[in-house]
Amino acid sequence: MNKVRLGIIGLGTVGAGAVNLVARNQTDWKQRRGLDVSVTCASARDLSKPRDCDLSDITLIEDPLALVESDQVDIVVELMGGDDLAKRIVERAIELGKPVVTANKALIALHGEQLFKCAVAGNVPVKFEAAVAGGIPIIKAISEGLASNQIKMVAGIINGTGNFILSQMKEKNRSFKDALQEAQDLGYAEADPTFDVEGIDAAHKLAILASMAFGIPLRFDRIYTEGITALQSADIGYAKEFGYRIKHLGIAKKMHDGVELRVHPTLVPQKRLLAHVNGVMNAVLVKGDAVGNTLHYGAGAGAEPTASAVIADVLDLARDAQMTDGHLGSHPVWNVPSVPLGFLNDGLSDLPIKGSDEFVSAYYLRVDVRDEVGVMSKLTTAFANHGISLEGIKQKEPNEGEDGVSVILITQRCVEKDLNAVVGELSALPQIQKEIMKIRVEYLD
Ligand code: NAP
Ligand code: HSE
Repeated sequence: MNKVRLGIIGLGTVGAGAVNLVARNQTDWKQRRGLDVSVTCASARDLSKPRDCDLSDITLIEDPLALVESDQVDIVVELMGGDDLAKRIVERAIELGKPVVTANKALIALHGEQLFKCAVAGNVPVKFEAAVAGGIPIIKAISEGLASNQIKMVAGIINGTGNFILSQMKEKNRSFKDALQEAQDLGYAEADPTFDVEGIDAAHKLAILASMAFGIPLRFDRIYTEGITALQSADIGYAKEFGYRIKHLGIAKKMHDGVELRVHPTLVPQKRLLAHVNGVMNAVLVKGDAVGNTLHYGAGAGAEPTASAVIADVLDLARDAQMTDGHLGSHPVWNVPSVPLGFLNDGLSDLPIKGSDEFVSAYYLRVDVRDEVGVMSKLTTAFANHGISLEGIKQKEPNEGEDGVSVILITQRCVEKDLNAVVGELSALPQIQKEIMKIRVEYLD
């Protein structure tokens, strides 16, 4: 039976989850799959800290690079996060011919191109299923199960922390701050939680998804990114009155003339399954030319759901080794479906990435105006002047003693540049009392 010895770097939420999962299920893998997987070494910043896992049979090594070099380690499992030391660790593992499994989306989104080139040159697999959507095997779904399709769209809830916060605010009326604190306590949030709430983490993941789905380079730097911090509970309520839920989505669309890559709060019609994905759950909609729409749902963060994806990569590597000559690093990288194919054959598409002015979407606007005769007609005329049709319009009653009202408008699909021109025109009206709130609406069809 092939023995596979893991060196785990990072013993936080995911690292401890991975150690526990191996301890619990290793006998099952031996019996069912003939694979003998164990954790031999681990590293963390502070080795004296108590951990949520049993480390009694594991050699602790202070220096993560020394762990990579240890002759007790066959596969390097990077679960520490960050993109500096983590990059050096992966590079060193590749130099030594040791396969890498990582959950680090920042590392892949920012340095994936360089790392995959080294991995391909050295014939060393680098796998990253856990980097996107936690326990959902979405990398495998796109690169294997849906491989025969031309993928036109990938859209989903890909940050568990953000979805948890929005759900808690809507369902339990909790404050943003409280809900974020609980997400941190549960181990869902990034070390720097602004990555979650400002959409950076979702943008890292979207860069990876779009590269896998469309064969384009990793373009984190070109993703239009808005977080959830500017959302107001009033908008969540108004959206509901119109039959929508507000979700924080990552959206990648491929058109004949370019690609849209965007992360932002989005109104989703209540009839869509995505509208009902709550808490830490994630869901990713993939639209293929042959299969149509597929929806992939599961826990997007947390110790064991993420460990599930990490260890699935480990078992793939162990199985590949079992099927070849038993040496983990010796099987060809092209056997490893998680490397975006473009990195193997210089085939990455140079389709342009569209700027936000070129996006095509429907829009929700909240316009706070002084309640005067004729103001509604001024609003609707501005839309007509720019050729934008309205799907719905509602004026809310003013609060006691106030002279202002909120007018909610939902447009039909239009080009964002035209919508921005309307917003500019409306903002200049003397009746406008606050900055106009704009949220995109996606029908996901
Ligand atoms: P975490 O709980 O903060 O754990 C990070 C671990 O890495 C800690 O044990 C820490 O050591 C160790 N570490 C940090 N810097 C180190 C260094 N310089 N040398 C050695 N060890 C170091 O983070 P996490 O939530 O497990 O996330 C780990 C990775 O998985 C990140 O890339 C994250 O984006 C990704 N991820 C997380 C989740 C999730 O649900 N949490 C889901 C998917 C992917 P100390 O404990 O001693 O400080
Ligand atoms: N902080 C991330 C999230 C972890 O909340 O989705 C999973 O990638």
